[in-house]
Amino acid sequence: MSDSLSSLYGGRGISIASGRGGRIWDSEGREYVDFFNGHGASLFGHGNQVLRRAVYEAADGVWSSGAGFESPVREELARLLGSLIGGGMAFICNSGAEAIEAALKLSVSLRPGRHRILACRRGFHGRTCGALALTFNPKYRNPFKRLIPEVEHFEPDALAQSIDEDTIAVFVEPVQGEGGVYPLSPKTGAAISESCRESGALLISDEIQTGLGRCGAVLASPSAGLDPDIICLAKGLAGGLPIGAAVWKSTLGDFPSHGHGSTYGGGEFIARVAAAALKLILEGDLSRRAGEIGEELRSGIEGLGARAIKEIRGMGMLNGIEITSPSVDAVKALQRKGLLSLAAGPRVVRFLPSFAASPEDISLAVQIIGDVLTRESGAR
Ligand SMILES: Cc1ncc(COP(=O)(O)O)c(C=O)c1O
Repeated sequence: MSDSLSSLYGGRGISIASGRGGRIWDSEGREYVDFFNGHGASLFGHGNQVLRRAVYEAADGVWSSGAGFESPVREELARLLGSLIGGGMAFICNSGAEAIEAALKLSVSLRPGRHRILACRRGFHGRTCGALALTFNPKYRNPFKRLIPEVEHFEPDALAQSIDEDTIAVFVEPVQGEGGVYPLSPKTGAAISESCRESGALLISDEIQTGLGRCGAVLASPSAGLDPDIICLAKGLAGGLPIGAAVWKSTLGDFPSHGHGSTYGGGEFIARVAAAALKLILEGDLSRRAGEIGEELRSGIEGLGARAIKEIRGMGMLNGIEITSPSVDAVKALQRKGLLSLAAGPRVVRFLPSFAASPEDISLAVQIIGDVLTRESGAR
């Protein structure tokens, strides 16, 4: 690579040429089962017919009129987003980190006079300065300390008792993705929700990776015991095109006048595609399918009996295996055999299949995982 991407992301050493459903092909014609899907953004897999049609229709219309103008397409998307939280309002932006920034600013403006912002150890919320403050990994945060606001990080189990009447907001992921695929226990989530309710602190559920059906339901918060005031979405919301959204209960209030904004946020092009994607999730049975995909994958991996696998964790189509060797080496070895995955910390390999993953994709993936991990360690 001739830009800085290699040092930021670690080069994969292949170039992706095309994709269909749950598979992609590199420029040499090699085929891969895609359980990476652009960091989970290609939630519907590749070449989804409905989304392609929405893109063509969007291309024929106005692409971006500016949020000061009324726009039936953006309003439809905002209404669909609001329905996720029982009649809410939405700020539409362009990425996950921006959705988190919006939630931060909204929280601070809704809770004047309070000071504390809380998040979880191992949590990941993005890399812009506000989002970075919430992200736990000191390796990401430390070099930029002077740019970021103060956030207190607690073990999820210690969070509920740390919330008080000086707390503005508490940020939680229903399943920690980047931090190693750790689902939040419903008991812990319920205690956090209760503590927020009692103290008046705002609960923000970061559903950027878990949401939109990936974890077997439209939102993962309820099964993690969370009753959020604000949810943050991005990744699959427009099937892989850049978008993010902060959605909150309208009873909370709104940003101060001119208190936030975005040039591209909610432009007609992206709003049309996202509305089509959201309708697919809300009106079909994709969430149920995600649950089945996850179960098939986890039970297939379990059946391998590989000694190199210490634990299998996950919910729906967000899964991780904790292994005894470095995850980056395993990710590379899996790729060489035709399975794309990603690391979630030093010892966890993460699998993010899409709704398009077929039973054949899953069994081939399991076979490849078995080839790579049992060869290295011998079977149990
Ligand atoms: C839980 C979570 N929050 C926030 C982000 C940041 O999203 P983006 O990369 O779109 O800024 C991510 C990205 O991986 C994420 O997984």
